[in-house]
Amino acid sequence: MFADRVLSGMRPTGSLHLGHYHGVLKNWVQMQHEYECLFFVADWHALTTHYDTPQIIEQSVWDMVVDWLAAGVDPAHATLFIQSRVPEHAELHLLLSMITPLGWLERMPTYKDQQEKLSGKDLSTYGFLGYPLLQSADILIYRATQVPVGEDQVPHIEFTREIARRFNHIYGREPGFEEKAGAAVKKLGSKKAKLYAELRTRYQEQGDDEALQSGKALLDEQQSLSHGDRERLFGYLEGSGKMILSEPQAMLTAASKMPGLDGQKMSKSYENTITLREDEASVGKKIRTMPTDPARIRRTDAGDPAKCPVWQLHHVYSNEQTKQWVQQGCRSAGIGCIECKQPVIDAVLEEQRPMRERAQLYLDDPALVRNIIADGCEKARKLATETMRDVREAMGLSYG
Ligand code: TRP
Ligand code: SF4
Repeated sequence: MFADRVLSGMRPTGSLHLGHYHGVLKNWVQMQHEYECLFFVADWHALTTHYDTPQIIEQSVWDMVVDWLAAGVDPAHATLFIQSRVPEHAELHLLLSMITPLGWLERMPTYKDQQEKLSGKDLSTYGFLGYPLLQSADILIYRATQVPVGEDQVPHIEFTREIARRFNHIYGREPGFEEKAGAAVKKLGSKKAKLYAELRTRYQEQGDDEALQSGKALLDEQQSLSHGDRERLFGYLEGSGKMILSEPQAMLTAASKMPGLDGQKMSKSYENTITLREDEASVGKKIRTMPTDPARIRRTDAGDPAKCPVWQLHHVYSNEQTKQWVQQGCRSAGIGCIECKQPVIDAVLEEQRPMRERAQLYLDDPALVRNIIADGCEKARKLATETMRDVREAMGLSYG
């Protein structure tokens, strides 16, 4: 509905590791140059599962922001904020809850999956059931068009689209919508009005998706339209009524399955991680003590990289030449495992060096981080306030 805006959140439930870097943060860093980006600390989301250990969240919030900055997320390009500092998220969550069918939440695959996975914890709470709706509020309140998420979160984005549609359907039917839309069309000027009408007919009569996209593009270019007219024309194009909340797209991040120290996917719960800013000695130690092909008991035994977790790290970090050296050396027992691990250690340290340096800046002066977040919260709140004004009005809550 508006220009592309990217929004993503991360739960502060522990320190970030290289899996987060390769799977998420590298992607954020790239996107901040291509789109308007908002990235936030989803502390309320963390509370839905960690309600009994709030200390973990408290500790993780600032560390996580430092990790983002260390990874290269740049406050000059992206807006960084904390969810609970923009209480409008909670207001939208509450208002959306009025129209959210319970069945939609109960059917979310993540609801049952997570309950089973975290079986030690009672997750049959109201807050946890509402997790996807809180996420919808996060997204809809900024009218985000793109939401970078992992595969597991795609149902949440689809759910968000359904909630937006339902909201627009129920509250977008203002009295006299057709007339108001007609008047707004005239304001486009005769040539564009004609084109708009043609595209609308093509979409509504023939389901021509290209016509819909062209219509949206046409509206995107109209700088002088008032906000209300814009919502009407976007809504009128598709048929229903005013489009108050816009449907986001999931932006699937190529699932980088960063291998951990044991060959499984790197994950805190497997205790196989290297943290983003882990100190150098510890990185060396962790990699040097990594398991290798179990068949290589003695230095003189030949091995098979396919059976070795170290080889998976070479895949991430080494060039062709080094990989060949590993293949030949391992299979012929020409190199030892410690030797083989050294290029990986070097590469990880090299990757972490700029991160450690950037982080140091913020660790030396924590006020910098507080200010970045304060700025970000202020910017986010401004955007959130605009949407809430429309939502309250649509729901009959703007008493004069
Ligand atoms: N649910 C997301 C996760 O577990 C975190 C999150 C909360 C989020 N709100 C969001 C992600 C909004 C994208 C957009 O990873
Ligand atoms: Fe693994 Fe390298 Fe040892 Fe081969 S030489 S078993 S690839 S660590």
